[in-house]
Amino acid sequence: MSVRRIALIAAIGGLLFGYDTGIIAGALLFAREDLSMGAFEQGLVVAMVPLGAAFGALLSGRFSNRYGRRSVVGAAAVAFLLGSLACAVAPSVAVLAAARFVLGIAVGFASASCPVYISEVAPPTQRGRLVSLFQLAVVVGILVAYLVALALEPSSDWRLMLGLGAVPALLLGLGMTRVPPSPRWLAMVGRDDEARGVMASLGMPQREVDEELEGIHANLRAEQGTFRDLLRQPARAALVVGIGLAVLQQVTGINTVIYFAPSIMEFAGVTSKSAAILSTVGVGLVNLAATIVAIRLVDRAGRRPLLIVGISGMVLALLALTAGFALDPDGKDGATAVVTVGALMAYVAAFAISLGPIFWLLNGEIYPLRERGAAAAAGTTANWASNFVVSLTFLPLIAALGTPGAFGLYAGVGVVALIFCITLVPETRGRTLQEIEQIWRRRAGMASEA
Ligand code: BGC
Repeated sequence: MSVRRIALIAAIGGLLFGYDTGIIAGALLFAREDLSMGAFEQGLVVAMVPLGAAFGALLSGRFSNRYGRRSVVGAAAVAFLLGSLACAVAPSVAVLAAARFVLGIAVGFASASCPVYISEVAPPTQRGRLVSLFQLAVVVGILVAYLVALALEPSSDWRLMLGLGAVPALLLGLGMTRVPPSPRWLAMVGRDDEARGVMASLGMPQREVDEELEGIHANLRAEQGTFRDLLRQPARAALVVGIGLAVLQQVTGINTVIYFAPSIMEFAGVTSKSAAILSTVGVGLVNLAATIVAIRLVDRAGRRPLLIVGISGMVLALLALTAGFALDPDGKDGATAVVTVGALMAYVAAFAISLGPIFWLLNGEIYPLRERGAAAAAGTTANWASNFVVSLTFLPLIAALGTPGAFGLYAGVGVVALIFCITLVPETRGRTLQEIEQIWRRRAGMASEA
């Protein structure tokens, strides 16, 4: 099987991550009526996926070292399948919330393990592009979820919307039984002969197989960092930036839009459910288009310019949303609805060229080699934990501060994110991982290593 096909199968994990986080936007409009949910219960059902994902990400590092990356992605597929089916038949809010928690664990496993698996089977020359496939799959999954919600809107069938996640879960599960284990993991657990066999089956010439295996063992000797080592320099300096970006990616409010877009449209005065869902499909399309632009630009323009331009755009769009909702709190004026939809699109586009892809990229490349595994898991967990807090508090925040107050708050946090990126995030474009490590050593006032 070609590396490309293997990466595509593993990227179905990204599709499920996107589908299961995106589908709740449409499903909620109907489920909340059927199960008579209040604001807190709606937030809970939404937020169970990020909460489960924080746990899943935390556990996945240990599991994927012990049982292998392929097994963890396979386990994620089973959890996706069971969670989707349980959501579809949930008789009460409590069961729905529990089923969404199971889905969350799957999302956490997938978001931490799929990119690692892909990067470990991919040859170095194709690695960047193939790992980006995972990110692209996430936004495609969100868009597919919005389209499914649009198609099922006339039947109000929120159970089918949630249950359909079982289809890609089945594909992922079946696909993972056909792909090989990661050769790097095989080498790590001392199964060198099998690792050789996998690399040869991926089309690698014998001489390169031996070199690669030697390189893997050299890397592994260096890469034995634990969670405790993260608090020592130079890892600490890198971790401040990684965790900072993980939290800021979420607390600037992206998932209030991704998860609640149709509800926000209703606040803006879009009264029909189908119009609200249709504008949400627009949000998904803009997200996909801007992500494609970002993937093309990130190695050319660099990470910092994209972050600075993108976050500035997010702040401006959030201020426009704040003003729109302040001027017309009840959404009586059609012009405000137009401003709201436009501002939402601009905000999502600005996120998708900056904090969206660049956090995941930096989370994979900025940590010193020794601590990379533990640090990336810590960053992923921080990201999902912040996502949980934002999803759970969004509707109560609107009840307490009003819609303009809530978006004004996210705009203020956006300014903090901008200052953080300008002052603390280094440019890593075109630098080797070794050079990136020297940046942290210099910042920590340590002598550089030859
Ligand atoms: C974020 C997700 C978000 C998605 C939207 C990702 O980078 O981590 O929380 O839902 O972007 O496209």
